[in-house]
Amino acid sequence: MYITKIIYKNYRNIEYAEIKPDREVNVFQGFNAQGKTNLLEGIYYFACGKSFRGACDRELVRIGQDEGSVTICFSDEERERTHEVRLFSGERKLCFKEGIKISRMSDFIGVFRAVLFSPEHLSIIKDGPGERRNFCDIAISQIYPAYMAALSTYKKLLTQRNALLKEPETVGFYDLIHVISLQMAKEAAFISAHRDRYIKRLHGHVEHLIYNMTGGMEKVKLSYETLLGEDEYVRLLTGNIEKEIMAKTTLYGIQKDDISVTLNGLDSRVYASQGQQRSIALAMKVAEGEISNEICGEYPVFLFDDIMSELDKNRKAFILTGLYDKQVIITGCDDIRTGKIFNVSNGSVLL
Ligand SMILES: Nc1ncnc2c1ncn2[C@@H]1O[C@H](COP(=O)(O)OP(=O)(O)OP(=O)(O)O)[C@@H](O)[C@H]1O
Ligand SMILES: [Mg+2]
Repeated sequence: MYITKIIYKNYRNIEYAEIKPDREVNVFQGFNAQGKTNLLEGIYYFACGKSFRGACDRELVRIGQDEGSVTICFSDEERERTHEVRLFSGERKLCFKEGIKISRMSDFIGVFRAVLFSPEHLSIIKDGPGERRNFCDIAISQIYPAYMAALSTYKKLLTQRNALLKEPETVGFYDLIHVISLQMAKEAAFISAHRDRYIKRLHGHVEHLIYNMTGGMEKVKLSYETLLGEDEYVRLLTGNIEKEIMAKTTLYGIQKDDISVTLNGLDSRVYASQGQQRSIALAMKVAEGEISNEICGEYPVFLFDDIMSELDKNRKAFILTGLYDKQVIITGCDDIRTGKIFNVSNGSVLL
């Protein structure tokens, strides 16, 4: 899959830009605060349905304007496609597929697939379990739309259950919580099985990548904690209600899970160096792209924001070689002389 054209209008600090990326390596170069990450954010919007930097839609509209938009044209094995999102300072966004309005952004997810790596992704290794769950949730959603639907149902049920646990005097409380718990257990088992399968697959790729990157010196192990079946979730969610009333929240379920990442047997969050952490996070992203290709039959577009700064020469070369013949868009990399170079200055893009 590759992008043929992107048009930005009043998006962040970009008044207007039209970019035609090359099929292989593309580099966005420029000084700080010129709009390089904004350009990638606009592309990744179509892969995950929101800003990867946690901004809300109205913050993406150029300050002082009422409306902004991003249009992306891309080709997959079947055909050329056009997706557009129009963002407003005061109203909800509008999404278009081939010019036809769609009601939900989720209709985009899985059609345009991209893998993004930015400095914030170091948090996959450095921070708490939420970051790792988020990583695998976005990755799995892009390849299995049913997973995203299950996750969204589960989150709604969890919100209801938590609200109910704060009001145990509600009429019919026990019946209600029982019904919600059974529904949640079904979704939880589905989600947990998918996560476990995905992490096993990811592990195979990451272990191999890091092993080769370090000449066999570093061995990474990824594993999903904790795979449970529906019966076990039913038991946990129906058997601890008094404890949960005391805690005023749901104490069990897939919202508590973690992915363990060890390097040579030690917890990488605590023991790995900054460069090692970055290498593992990056390898997880490259592996995400490999799995996407295995399942969908085509590579996604790789978006790399400022990734090279903490990698030594050998690791850098290893990553770039592995990305040969895939579409890659990299920012902030002065030492890359290959590919199509775009200069980004004050929101304008020049070839
Ligand atoms: N809604 C907006 N309207 C106008 N300008 C905005 C908006 N949102 C962000 N900006 C501006 O965009 C610029 C930042 O762009 P961006 O993060 O893409 O920079 P960058 O080129 O990636 O820089 P760096 O090399 O430091 O990462 C900032 O100057 C910021 O003020
Ligand atoms: Mg940036």
